[in-house]
Amino acid sequence: MLRPSLLLPTCVLSIASIAQVMNPMAVPPALDLDTFDLDVDEHVVNFYPGVNTNTYGASAPYLGPTLILHRGEPARVRVNNHLSQVTSMHWHGMRVPGWADGGPPREVLPGDTWFVEFPVNNPASTFWYHPHPDGLTAEQANQGVAGAIVVRDSVEAALDLPRSYGVDDLPVVIQDRRFAPNGNFVFAAYGDSVLVNGTPHPYVECPAQVVRLRLLNGSNARVYQLGFEDARIFHVIAGDGGLLAAPVPTDRLPLSNGERAEVLVDLTGMAGDSLLLMSFGSELPLTVPGSNHPLWESSALNGVDFAVLRIRVTAPTANPVTVIPASLATVAPPDEADAVRTRTKILAGTGMVGMGMFTINGLMFDPAVVNDTMLQGTTEVWEIENISNMAHPMHLHGGSFFILDRDGAPPAAWEAGPKDVVLVDAGASVRIIMRFDDLSDGWPFMYHCHNLMHEDNMMMLQYIVVDPNTGLASIRPEAASIHPVPSDGRFTYRCPFPPEELRITDTTGREVHRQGPLPQRGELTPPLSPGTYIITFSTGARRAITHLVIQ
Ligand code: C2O
Ligand code: CU
Ligand code: CU
Repeated sequence: MLRPSLLLPTCVLSIASIAQVMNPMAVPPALDLDTFDLDVDEHVVNFYPGVNTNTYGASAPYLGPTLILHRGEPARVRVNNHLSQVTSMHWHGMRVPGWADGGPPREVLPGDTWFVEFPVNNPASTFWYHPHPDGLTAEQANQGVAGAIVVRDSVEAALDLPRSYGVDDLPVVIQDRRFAPNGNFVFAAYGDSVLVNGTPHPYVECPAQVVRLRLLNGSNARVYQLGFEDARIFHVIAGDGGLLAAPVPTDRLPLSNGERAEVLVDLTGMAGDSLLLMSFGSELPLTVPGSNHPLWESSALNGVDFAVLRIRVTAPTANPVTVIPASLATVAPPDEADAVRTRTKILAGTGMVGMGMFTINGLMFDPAVVNDTMLQGTTEVWEIENISNMAHPMHLHGGSFFILDRDGAPPAAWEAGPKDVVLVDAGASVRIIMRFDDLSDGWPFMYHCHNLMHEDNMMMLQYIVVDPNTGLASIRPEAASIHPVPSDGRFTYRCPFPPEELRITDTTGREVHRQGPLPQRGELTPPLSPGTYIITFSTGARRAITHLVIQ
C-alpha cells in the first residue's frame, strides 16, 4: 500500500496538467480615480476548472486593479483590511515620504482602513503595490495581493508609444505557483505553474503592430530569462523607475523579483500568426534562483525553458504605432562626485533546502533598530557585495537609484535607467548611487532582498532620512487614531498620552491649526476646509501622528 505522502507528487502533477487548453489572459481593470479603494480580502478562485484555490486579492479575487497615477498630482488610496491578520500596502518603487511608504511599520490592523495621500514624484513607468507586513509579506503576496501601478507624465505622453491599455499596452505580471493536492497554493520558493495576471496557460490577442508589454516579476523566488521562441529582437524602453534614454534592442531580458521592464514588440504583418514569450531557464547561471541548483528547492520549471505567454496576432488597430522611437527620455543619474559617502553592504549566507539563511552585514531585521541614517538631499554610493552562494535581487525603498557598475563594468544598457531592484549575483559586487530626497519622518524605509523567502527570513534592514537641520528623528512616532475617516469636519481622536499640543498641517507641511493642551481622547471640530491633513499630538519628546481627511 502506498503511504499518502507518496501519492502527493502525482496529485500535484495532475492539477498542474489539468486542461492544458489555453486561457485568455486576464487584464486587470485600469483605474484612474481621485481615490482608490483597495479591499484586501479572502477569495476562492478556480485557476483550473473544478479546482478551488483559496486566495487573497485587492478589490479582486486575485491580484488587484492597475492604478493609473499622474506625475505631479496626489495619489489617494484607502487600504481596507478585511483579512483576519495584519497587513500593510507598499507602493514599490514610488518616491514617497516615510509615512506614506506602507512598509512594515505602517500596519493596517484587521478591520481597519489606512487612508494615504502621497505626491506622485516618479517619472512615467510601471510600479507595483504589494503588502509588506513584518514576516507576512511573502505569504500575503503568494496568496495574491499585488497589482500594477502605471505612472503617466508629459514626457511619456509626448512620445509615439502604444498606450491603449488592454489593446496595445498590456500589464504582464508573471508569477509561478505550486498547487497542493487540495487546490490551494503551496507556500514555496518555486512553483511549477506559470500564471500571467493570474491566468494559467495564458494567451493574449495583440494587434499586428508595435505593442508594449509591462513586464513584472511578481514571483516569490524565481528569476525569469525572457525572450521569444523565434529569438526575435524586441526593445526595452523602461526599467523599474522610468524610461531609458533610447530603446535597447535585445533578444533576452533577465527579470528578477520585483523588477519591471517595459518592452516593445513589433508584430507588424503578423496577423493570424502567433508568438510565444518564454523564459529560457536553461540559460540561468546556477547561482540564480530558477536554475537547477542541486542544494536548493527543486521544481519542474527549474533549469528548463518554458512558455510564459502565447501572443495571438490579430488585425491592426485604426491608428497603430508601427515605428520604434529613436529616443525616449533624458536619463540623469546623480554625479558620483556628489556622493557624500560610500556604504558597503555584504550579503552572506548559504542557500540550502529548508535551512537557507542570509544576512546583510551579518544583521537581520529588527523593527526596533535603525541600521542607517541618511541626510535629506544627499547622495550616497552603496557597494553591495554578495559572498553567499545565491544571487539576491536587492531593493531599496524611498525612490530610484542608478547602477554605477557591476564588478567594475557598466550595467547592461536596459539597466541604465532609474532602478529600484538590482540582481547581485553570487560573488559579484554592484555599486549603486542614490539621492535621498524624502524624509522618513519617523517611518523607516526598508532595504531588502526581494526574494520573498529571504525578505521574511530577515534579509531586510531599515534606514531613516533626517533633515540635516533638525537632527535625528525618532524611529517611530506613536499611533494616534481618528474616527471617522473621512469626516465631515467633526471627529473623535485618541492619543496614547495626554497631548500638550495638537498641530495640524496640510500635506505640504504648512501649519493650518494648533491647539492644546487636550485630554487623551475627545472630540474636535477644527476650522478646516475639505482636504487631507496630518495631525501631530505632542508632549515633551513624545509624539503621535495620524491623518485626517475632511470631505
Ligand atoms: Cu516590493 Cu519592500 O518591497
Ligand atoms: Cu519597495
Ligand atoms: Cu535573497
